[in-house]
Amino acid sequence: MAYPGVLERYRSYLDIPEHTKTVTLLEGDTPLIPMPRLAEELGGGFELFVKYEGLNPTGSFKDRGMTVAISEAYGRGAKAVICASTGNTSASAAAYANRAGMKAVVIIPEGKVAAGKLAGAIAYGAQVVQIRGSFDDALTLVMKISDQHPIVLVNSLNPYRLEGQKSSAFEICDVLGAAPDILCLPVGNAGNITAYWMGFRQYNERNKTGLPQILGVQAAGSAPLVLGHPVDNPETVATAIRIGKPARGEQALEAAEESKGKIIARSDEDILYMQQRLAANGVWVEPASAAGLAGLKAEIEAGTLDVQGKRIVAICTGHGMKDPDIIVKQMTTPEVVDANLQALEEVLIK
Ligand code: F0G
Repeated sequence: MAYPGVLERYRSYLDIPEHTKTVTLLEGDTPLIPMPRLAEELGGGFELFVKYEGLNPTGSFKDRGMTVAISEAYGRGAKAVICASTGNTSASAAAYANRAGMKAVVIIPEGKVAAGKLAGAIAYGAQVVQIRGSFDDALTLVMKISDQHPIVLVNSLNPYRLEGQKSSAFEICDVLGAAPDILCLPVGNAGNITAYWMGFRQYNERNKTGLPQILGVQAAGSAPLVLGHPVDNPETVATAIRIGKPARGEQALEAAEESKGKIIARSDEDILYMQQRLAANGVWVEPASAAGLAGLKAEIEAGTLDVQGKRIVAICTGHGMKDPDIIVKQMTTPEVVDANLQALEEVLIK
């Protein structure tokens, strides 16, 4: 049978109503890429894989949850959806809503959304509104609007988003034959870490696949779960996780505790370093997506996480092409030479 997308593939594991009518772009089924050279760089002695979620249809893991949230809304005749976003959710909501002939409204923090995400939301046909405020302000507003108007909230407060996002945990277990020993991933609004923990527990109950320790990683300038209080003016180069008041913060802390894992924070410098090391190993991700591995590196170096003989999966949530500016800012402009062999040889051999 041709691949049907995450909703149909894992339907029996998803808690969704009868009226759900599948809207899919065949998201999911992303590769679990072995990273032996990067594992050696980090000290070796363990197996490392990257779950490359940037290869979803709109370039991020959000498509897994969005297919389910939109399918549910569409199935009950909803005409419009709304979300607050640091970028990826907005592009995904726009793509899936428009595919179903629904309107998508996305509210984003002015000037803080990476170019590839904003372009996506516009290209897929959303009504995009920028606010003079943060993602947290935008989320507060869309919660109020969806309460008072017939427009469906598709942030991860919508339970169907999490139902869909569980599918990545299922895929990892299906490919490896069991859950990994350790799972590391970035944490922003904390829906994804919550969904992974739900997914691994559910798969373990039915299929005895075991449970991973979960290492959630925030950016140091936006680390409310590490600090233990909301952050009023979150800042980080990893704009996807520039969030000061995570909607699913409590559940994220529970996932870390129940799995005997933890939530830590890493600096922008560490995150960008890991983005570069991933790219040097053939996997280009946006900055936020490198946070999980930046956290793993720090834990290994501090000797605070036992990795020997373990199988580790790092979730890389979004594609590098989402945020081209961050690379362009760091690099020097490529050389320009005349279009002749001699000129080319001169720069190649020097
Ligand atoms: N990585 C990327 C690339 C993201 O876009 C996000 C969240 C996360 C990680 C964190 O996931 O919020 O479930 O903890 N982006 C949201 C958005 C907030 O609006 O696109 P989370």
